[in-house]
Amino acid sequence: MLEETLVLFKNIRNPKYDKSLAGYKKTGGFKSLKKVFGMKPEEVVQEVKESGVRGRGGAGFPTGLKWSFMAKGTGKPSYLVANADESEPGTCKDRELMLKDPHLFLEGLMIGSYAVGCHHAYVYVRGEFFPAIKTLNAAVDELYADGLLGHDPLGSGFNLDITIHTGAGAYICGEETALLDSLEGKRGQPRVKPPFPAVSGFNGCPTSVNNVETLACLPFIFSDGGVESFKSFGPQNNSGTHLVSLSGHVNSPGVYELRMDVSMKDIIYEIGGGIRNGKKLKGVIPGGSSSPVMKADEIDVLYNFDDLAKIGTMMGSAAMMVFDEDTDVVKLLHRITRFYAHESCGQCTPCREGTHWSRQIVRDFLNGNGSEEKLKRLDRVGGNMLGTTLCALGDAAALPIQSIVNKFPEEFRNYYATT
Ligand SMILES: Cc1cc2nc3c(=O)[nH]c(=O)nc-3n(C[C@H](O)[C@H](O)[C@H](O)COP(=O)(O)O)c2cc1C
Repeated sequence: MLEETLVLFKNIRNPKYDKSLAGYKKTGGFKSLKKVFGMKPEEVVQEVKESGVRGRGGAGFPTGLKWSFMAKGTGKPSYLVANADESEPGTCKDRELMLKDPHLFLEGLMIGSYAVGCHHAYVYVRGEFFPAIKTLNAAVDELYADGLLGHDPLGSGFNLDITIHTGAGAYICGEETALLDSLEGKRGQPRVKPPFPAVSGFNGCPTSVNNVETLACLPFIFSDGGVESFKSFGPQNNSGTHLVSLSGHVNSPGVYELRMDVSMKDIIYEIGGGIRNGKKLKGVIPGGSSSPVMKADEIDVLYNFDDLAKIGTMMGSAAMMVFDEDTDVVKLLHRITRFYAHESCGQCTPCREGTHWSRQIVRDFLNGNGSEEKLKRLDRVGGNMLGTTLCALGDAAALPIQSIVNKFPEEFRNYYATT
């Protein structure tokens, strides 16, 4: 029977775990930070590269490599910003870490700050996450009171402040450059790249934006034998465990910590307990609403970055949304297109117009005004957004449209054949 592999959730799965600073220290907390303080920052970056950890925020970019791009010798301060916006539909994993083991994440943020030479780190949390904001602020207060933040923690000679900053609840502010604009007090809108944040980020200074889960991997990576164990949890280039947000029509939805050499089929049928009410599986949105949808006969594949990319989809934020044979995929797409039309920031024309028109066309089908021509137009509107916008929100809106239209055309045809 497939079970979780506990690295990030080791404490969380212990019902007796006390998430206070004292409780975290009892589990060996902050030993990794101490070890890191004995290393040179460039050695820390090298070790993170060696571990193979890839960003858990959606793009899967190698974290160590990203840090090595940080501009040096600019005379400007460097920043590390934790992306705690968690706005991708279906994703609810960073929330678990922030609420239930805040010091694990904060230790990771401190390790990362040391690696990139940051003396003031920010956590950008989405504004609606009141309990997470409260928990993180309380945890940061504990760290200051203990001397782990501020001046010379653990006698390291390093100084670090952490500020918890709340957003106002916009999907676009999860995109790293929109996040930085929002953090600077502006309206959150993506920036033209290059320059990338590693060169010109927060207030024009070298910046790395990293997802909460990515940072939470660091204390384990710097534990004894951590790098080798981390690498052993998945195929090459897909190292570590990851948090899978499993939702939809499964018997046991939840957030599970799994190795990256586990198949989607096993996640749905073993971890998720199969499809509820004995129904058949129709399909899966594999990595948050931005990922191309999969049909039931495609799930015999390892759930990791590379194996999903090979079959034309993506793992994204590892939010797997499962839907059964009774699901109306036209209504499903309508829900998705409404979301993107609402959340497009409006800066780029293809995204602003494309998200509006795709929602409108899907609505036409639901209202009995669909046609073969409109089905083609829907696919075309999606295609016109792909790769034509400043940020990936345009792609995120286009991929579910094109994949649903191409994999389930009959469902759209049923609408206009019967209404
Ligand atoms: C529209 C949009 C929304 C995003 N939302 C999030 C988010 O909520 N959390 C997150 O970590 N990354 C999000 N990302 C990805 C970030 O831009 C960035 O790649 C990520 O925070 C980098 O961290 P990582 O390297 O640790 O994955 C989003 C990207 C886009 C295009």
